[in-house]
Amino acid sequence: MENSKYILVTGGAGYIGSHTVVELVNAGFEPVILDDFRNAKSFIIENIQTILGRKIELINAACQDENNLRTIFQKYKFQGVIHFAADKAVGESVKNPLKYYDNNLSGLVSILKMMEEFKTPSLVFSSSCSVYGNPSLPEGVHGVDETIKELDPESPYANTKLICEQIVQDWIASNPNSNATLLRYFNPIGAHKSGLIGELPQGIPNNLLPYITQTAVGIRKSLTVFGNDYSTADGTCIRDYIHVTDLAVAHVKAIDWLWNQNVGTVEIFNVGTGKGSSVLEVIDIFEKTTNQKLNWEFGPRREGDVQEIFANPAKIESNFGWKAQFDVEEAILDAWNWEIKRPKDA
Ligand code: WQD
Repeated sequence: MENSKYILVTGGAGYIGSHTVVELVNAGFEPVILDDFRNAKSFIIENIQTILGRKIELINAACQDENNLRTIFQKYKFQGVIHFAADKAVGESVKNPLKYYDNNLSGLVSILKMMEEFKTPSLVFSSSCSVYGNPSLPEGVHGVDETIKELDPESPYANTKLICEQIVQDWIASNPNSNATLLRYFNPIGAHKSGLIGELPQGIPNNLLPYITQTAVGIRKSLTVFGNDYSTADGTCIRDYIHVTDLAVAHVKAIDWLWNQNVGTVEIFNVGTGKGSSVLEVIDIFEKTTNQKLNWEFGPRREGDVQEIFANPAKIESNFGWKAQFDVEEAILDAWNWEIKRPKDA
């Protein structure tokens, strides 16, 4: 059967979604964005179109709006759905878990019901390394891999991602017309080379890189490093920081890979560089690559932080032929380029 090339991208105006829309078009696909802009800005759509030099189909609606969804699925014979739309602030999920369980689960279920009704072949689900919690790796094991069984999500947000993975697995087992990949992202950072799209945290950033760039540009007074008494070389936490464009390309590879799999396939892939960097290393790289002095000081540990986590990317590299192309230095520089270019009233 000929693939239709139409791909529904829920949350396509968001950080990872917008970069994935660009890479889908670059790879010859026809993305259709579904976004209700609860956590995205409309100027991102214009900027995506500027980068691509063409219009992109946009539906301004929530995933739970099943009437609207049915109209879209009737209009386009989607080859696949890439489902990003979800709430994703770890801290907020601790304070307001019901918002997360309601939105993240019901949004996915609505999408799966439409896929089932219209026999859409492929689903790429946006999951997270936070499903691993604080993995204790056996001696000599470099990076967490997908075979780890004891998953210990440390926040309601992370738990919604784990539950959604299970929902997809149960659905695929019952529905022989589709297949799926569950992509567990590590720490996405950086921005498109053009500086036209990038991360747009609403309010005070939770994540490290936007907090660093907003401090350097003067929006924030000073960065607090959450804890320097971890059992790591410099006492600060370690993460696997991956360029958002590398992450976006992994989604295109996932769609291509699924097209060549038997229906009923469900596979989990870590999407990371396989390299860990500490908070102090990130600060040092930022200052060196941007030539900007950063105001920062140590503070207490942040509740829920894991000490160290980075990917073993062997499975995605061998199955997708994908490997992160950008190193953390380049990602940090692109994050800074976006920070100095982006509209500040956004
Ligand atoms: C990174 C490190 C902090 C802010 C995120 C998402 C999660 C998942 C993985 C996608 C930690 C330290 C941070 C600050 C700091 N992504 N930090 N001062 O917690 O690994 O999780 O990426 O699904 O959803 O939340 O990322 O950027 O918040 O923190 O010292 O002001 O930076 O303690 O060690 P995290 P982060």
